[in-house]
Amino acid sequence: MKVQVELCMGSSCFARGNSRILGFLERYIGEEGLQGRVEITGHLCLGNCSSGPVVRINGTDYFDLKEKELAGLVEEALHE
Ligand code: FES
Repeated sequence: MKVQVELCMGSSCFARGNSRILGFLERYIGEEGLQGRVEITGHLCLGNCSSGPVVRINGTDYFDLKEKELAGLVEEALHE
């Protein structure tokens, strides 16, 4: 299944970690050869700034994920 990862690019989430998460995801996709299977898009503020950074994976919102957790969720979603 194709995985859709939406990163909140609102200023709060971007400052709280999504700029780093974006770099991590791009590297991860490259290293794992997942181009075409994982699609990253940016999103305007998702309205949950205080719990951010917010990452939406296939429509479900996750808050303040560490890189490892994010990689695990993407991996899971690929096999759903
Ligand atoms: S900036 Fe991400 S929820 Fe507001």
